Amino acid sequence: MDNFTLDLADEAATLAFGAVLAIAIQPSLTIYLHGDLGAGKTTLVRGLLHALGYVGKVKSPTYTLVECYEIAVKSTQPLNIYHFDLYRFHDDEEWEAAGFRDYFNANSVCLIEWPEKAQQCLPLPDLDIIFSIQEPGRTIKLIAHTPLGQQSISAIKAKS
Ligand SMILES: Nc1ncnc2c1ncn2[C@@H]1O[C@H](COP(=O)(O)OP(=O)(O)OP(=O)(O)O)[C@@H](O)[C@H]1O
Ligand SMILES: [Mg+2]
Repeated sequence: MDNFTLDLADEAATLAFGAVLAIAIQPSLTIYLHGDLGAGKTTLVRGLLHALGYVGKVKSPTYTLVECYEIAVKSTQPLNIYHFDLYRFHDDEEWEAAGFRDYFNANSVCLIEWPEKAQQCLPLPDLDIIFSIQEPGRTIKLIAHTPLGQQSISAIKAKS
């Protein structure tokens, strides 16, 4: 499977990459976002959602664990984009109780910050995006794990 590395010089570059990622969004995609506190994971999701036409505020779901955004993508029926931040997640039973399992379906896209915190609960990702802080900017590495993730990387490469 393919991988791809990119330098993001500043916040604007992370937001712009979110817009590139938007072209690779398709139903049932699961993306893990790895990286330290303040690495730029939420910034990327913000750039993605704004590029997909969402005009509201994109808050970090640190306390709520997940935020849902309903997005109309091309001609398909609306997609639910779920943005997880599992930094404060610590109880595997909560996963089932909250019904999070059902969030992963043919009509959704899931982007997950801190997937390490819920490893036992989460499905495997199609794509890993790994942020490294390289002050003053950031470097990201994308790794595909499935044909769907591979398609995303190919679409991103064609646009970058
Ligand atoms: N490419 C970049 N270069 C420099 N700064 C950046 C870059 N991308 C984002 N930032 C800045 O990094 C900070 C942290 O961003 P963000 O909240 O997206 O991090 P995060 O990875 O989601 O952190 P957390 O794990 O705490 O949720 C913000 O101030 C943002 O402006
Ligand atoms: Mg965040």
